[in-house]
Amino acid sequence: MENITIIGGGNLGKSIATGLVKSNLYSANEIIVTGRSQNRLETIKDSLEVAVSTDNVLAIEGSKYIILCVQPKQLAGLLAEIKSALKPEQVLISTITGTSIQEIENMVDGNKLLRAMPNTAASKLQSITCIACGENAKSELDQVQMIFRTIGKTLVIDESLMQSATVLGASGIAFFLRYIRAVTQGGIQMGFHPGEAQLIAVQTAIGAATLVAENNTHPEREIDKVTTPMGCTIAGLNEMEHQGLSSAVIKGLMMSYEKINHIK
Ligand SMILES: NC(=O)c1ccc[n+]([C@@H]2O[C@H](COP(=O)([O-])OP(=O)(O)OC[C@H]3O[C@@H](n4cnc5c(N)ncnc54)[C@H](OP(=O)(O)O)[C@@H]3O)[C@@H](O)[C@H]2O)c1
Repeated sequence: MENITIIGGGNLGKSIATGLVKSNLYSANEIIVTGRSQNRLETIKDSLEVAVSTDNVLAIEGSKYIILCVQPKQLAGLLAEIKSALKPEQVLISTITGTSIQEIENMVDGNKLLRAMPNTAASKLQSITCIACGENAKSELDQVQMIFRTIGKTLVIDESLMQSATVLGASGIAFFLRYIRAVTQGGIQMGFHPGEAQLIAVQTAIGAATLVAENNTHPEREIDKVTTPMGCTIAGLNEMEHQGLSSAVIKGLMMSYEKINHIK
């Protein structure tokens, strides 16, 4: 009974299922994805060959791990629906923004509970998943980390940091993509076709991230290596800072953080 049921095959649920199948550590027949729209589930079934179902109660029956991927406002109804079918040994993993372990504990009957905050790069095995563990779920932490390590990197955090993790890691995908879009637009203005500009922007972003990730350096060390005194890079960097690049990013993150604290 080590199967995984993903409840809610939307943007995130489908990304996780895609990553798990792609990792080759889970076979498609160990994963079940649920949802309400049969059409959407058929698409998931066709592309991933996992089992799909609109019946949550049936779908959790043979699974040890149940990953909750519905919208925050859908959670209470969902838990009311599956509560009586949950077995004590089943482990609930909530990816849901803004609902605490304590709040979920109050809606179920003593199941082991963890929160996980992955991102949609799970589908490319490049997620960062922050994991917070309920008091009664400590024995499951290693196994849950193993599940999410198949779709990227993991970081165990205190639950008090879960909102911050959501902004940095989950919304972070959108923030980095907006930067890539801006670079692409700049490239087009300088003479590249859109596809070419995007190729350069994307591969340069991957390169920059890989330098920091693999060299384990501070970004500024890598910046120094491409910044010639009186050259074009420092001229561009300084202009970006005069225009408020770092400040805009930090302010955007803090605005997102403020907003997330009011999401329910
Ligand atoms: N998207 C992200 O990058 C991301 C990252 C980290 C965390 N999260 C969290 O993940 C959760 C899902 O986000 P999302 O972006 O994937 O939302 P989404 O695209 O709206 O997906 C939610 C899915 O849940 C399904 N659903 C709703 N009620 C259900 C029920 N009772 N039983 C089974 N399935 C049900 C919906 O199915 P129908 O479409 O058929 O109604 C939909 O496919 C949210 O709580 C969010 O905070 C999202």
